[in-house]
Amino acid sequence: MTITREQVTTALKQVIFFAKANNIVELGMVHDIEIKGKEIKISIVFPKLDDPAVGIIYNSVVKTLKTELGDDVSVDVKPIAEKEVGQGPLSGVKNIIAVISGKGGVGKSTVAANLAVSLAKAGNSVGILDADIMGPSVPIMFGVEGETPGVLEREGKPIMLPLEKYGIKILSLGFFVKPDQALMWRGSMINNAFNQLMTDSEWGNLDFLVIDMPPGTGDIQLTLAQSYNIRGTVLVTTPQKIATADVRRAAMMYRQDKLEIPLLGIVENMAYFTPSDCPEKKYYLFGQGAGDELAKELDIPVLGRIPIVEKIREGGDTGKPIAMDESNPISKAFAELAVKIKERVEAL
Ligand SMILES: Nc1ncnc2c1ncn2[C@@H]1O[C@H](COP(=O)(O)OP(=O)(O)OP(=O)(O)O)[C@@H](O)[C@H]1O
Ligand SMILES: [Mg+2]
Repeated sequence: MTITREQVTTALKQVIFFAKANNIVELGMVHDIEIKGKEIKISIVFPKLDDPAVGIIYNSVVKTLKTELGDDVSVDVKPIAEKEVGQGPLSGVKNIIAVISGKGGVGKSTVAANLAVSLAKAGNSVGILDADIMGPSVPIMFGVEGETPGVLEREGKPIMLPLEKYGIKILSLGFFVKPDQALMWRGSMINNAFNQLMTDSEWGNLDFLVIDMPPGTGDIQLTLAQSYNIRGTVLVTTPQKIATADVRRAAMMYRQDKLEIPLLGIVENMAYFTPSDCPEKKYYLFGQGAGDELAKELDIPVLGRIPIVEKIREGGDTGKPIAMDESNPISKAFAELAVKIKERVEAL
């Protein structure tokens, strides 16, 4: 049995911090969970390290996890002081990754959704934010269309609670605004809404917050680049020359001197087509090589090549990203992409 983050989180909800009359998960005290086989490492945030509750919670975490997940799990608990973690609405988010492209329809949302799923499957805590107000796709891709996130009040201010599906926290402008209403919105309103999703939301502690960006190099892109601490961008392109021209423009925007946001690499989507009855054949419908050329020019790696596969579209349309289906080889391609992105981030 592989231990999942969801199982660990569910178990930790039994551990109560009596001084605050709630469990340590709801209180946002669980800062980080790392799972390797039967080894579980957890860091927990306390107001002060000399708090007598530290020892009690320490023992309680170890005991609960062994009871719930088996006596043979090894549990390592690291207490950290609040002041070490920092404050601010996104302080619990370790890495914000923006999936970008200058061009529409190249597969940004598909890559963002499957990347989020693969990162989560590899044991990371993950959120996805859909920043495309004119054409939000994340709610459909995760099968949560029509649902409404909860709202809580903190210091008189409404705070959105992301929905959760497949263990991933999800927020989309599409939960709040219909695209035909959004068409009437001015740039400043869109920006405002985007900022609220970023900062007036209960993201909690995340290893990765994946942002599915709208196409182009407009207001939202600039706001994101200038106002937030982006760990890196992933560029999505098709292998056509015409697509890479737009992607190059988008890349340059994030790479401007003042912003210095690292470009993690390129994902070439719809790289080729393989008919299911001739699995040895590859048809390069959109040409070949433009991703490599761009990678060379920008001095960044090609992180992955995703073929055209009907199941990818089907997964998107039916609310279950293909990366969920481990028996499908494409799921492996996305898992490898997640590994590469994590490696790039860790090497920064
Ligand atoms: N590799 C693929 N194989 C088959 N279909 C794909 C693939 N990648 C994306 N698609 C399909 O192509 C369409 C466009 O993809 P997607 O919505 O991810 O693009 P996008 O870049 O986010 O578009 P937009 O610019 O409108 O936000 C979707 O229907 C998606 O299911
Ligand atoms: Mg999209």
